[in-house]
Amino acid sequence: MSSIGIIMNGVSGRMGYRQHLVRSILAIREQGGVELSDGRRVQVEPLLVGRNEEKLAELARRHDLQHFTTDLDAALADDRWPIYADFLVTKARASAIRKAIAAGKAIYTEKPTAESVEEALELARLAADAGIKNGVVHDKLYLPGLRKLKRLIDSGFFGRILSVRGEFGYWVFEGDWQAAQRPSWNYRAEDGGGIVVDMFPHWSYVLENLFGGVRSVYAQAVTEIPQRVDEQGLPYAATADDAAYAIFELEGGVTAQLNSSWTTRVNRDELVEFQVDGTHGSAVVGLFGCKIQPRNATPKPVWNPDLADEHDYAADWIESPANEVFENGFKTQWEQFLRHVIEDAPHPYDFLAGARGVQLAEEGLRSSREGRRVELAPLSLGELGTAQLTGARA
Ligand SMILES: NC(=O)c1ccc[n+]([C@@H]2O[C@H](COP(=O)([O-])OP(=O)(O)OC[C@H]3O[C@@H](n4cnc5c(N)ncnc54)[C@H](O)[C@@H]3O)[C@@H](O)[C@H]2O)c1
Repeated sequence: MSSIGIIMNGVSGRMGYRQHLVRSILAIREQGGVELSDGRRVQVEPLLVGRNEEKLAELARRHDLQHFTTDLDAALADDRWPIYADFLVTKARASAIRKAIAAGKAIYTEKPTAESVEEALELARLAADAGIKNGVVHDKLYLPGLRKLKRLIDSGFFGRILSVRGEFGYWVFEGDWQAAQRPSWNYRAEDGGGIVVDMFPHWSYVLENLFGGVRSVYAQAVTEIPQRVDEQGLPYAATADDAAYAIFELEGGVTAQLNSSWTTRVNRDELVEFQVDGTHGSAVVGLFGCKIQPRNATPKPVWNPDLADEHDYAADWIESPANEVFENGFKTQWEQFLRHVIEDAPHPYDFLAGARGVQLAEEGLRSSREGRRVELAPLSLGELGTAQLTGARA
């Protein structure tokens, strides 16, 4: 095989265009394709799919691409395109993925995979029964900061990890006197919006792959700004949560507290930051940076409210070096998924992992609604590929 065709549905959207087309697929094209284990390269050929032909034609022109269509069914019926990739608004995703499974395509999709855990599990089961390769974006794991964190964990730097505290967020403008920097559907529950639905799928795989699977969640999801202004300048009711304050209990006993907010102003080095505390050391990581403080470089603060503390705590941290070039995370995961499809290389981030992300969002919202901690039932495909929720909900 010298080239592989990829249906890119929703390619004119924010994620579809910037991260998946430009930063991933076009970057892979420019480097001559994805490199396989034996050194051969397979080129990628995108088919741009969307609802607006003019927009697609403009994109194709801009990037010197040959193939675009508004006819998804025809694309799915065409063997030239063995991979289906989905970057649609969340609400439109499950029905498109069902069609792609029926067409026998390998599927790579944005998160969340569906709007309910039942539907996410159904997709995982259908994909398993059809025997198709499937993958879900786990981009945060590929961020330089989190890759450095993984290295620290693997090296034993932390000793026993005790807790994780994370802050994600920034101010998203309401849209009245300055345009909002995120699409308005993000703030309407009826359109699949909300910060829990958006961010908890990420927290699910980040926590699971670095510290341990999530056993329970306690969350407080709130709508801080009840009215916003949309892309047309019209006011609308913001029915979805725009901030969520949550505690996660993990397998192995680590406690994680993560704040997710579109209604906070940044006083950190990066838009997302995690502090990990262990018996032998601590680290603070962001998208790129990673600062560490081993136990033998830990100062001994003494609480004294009568004296101003002159100690420069920020200076006690050491910057951890990259020691390698980290490429764009979306591109790195795309290459891994392409190798999975072409030469069966491992890519563990499948629809079942995606379903766990949807489950965490769903149970996070349940926790907030009911004002209690909710235990997560383990999800499985079942023995005969039958998806099911096992165990009882707390
Ligand atoms: N991995 C990440 O970090 C990350 C970040 C942001 C968003 N996302 C996910 O990516 C997806 C897209 O988000 P976005 O911010 O790019 O949104 P967007 O609104 O910019 O783009 C959505 C795309 O879907 C298309 N679309 C809208 N309604 C549709 C419908 N009814 N039928 C078919 N197509 C429709 C639009 O034309 C557009 O191409 C969401 O599922 C979101 O959760 C992931």
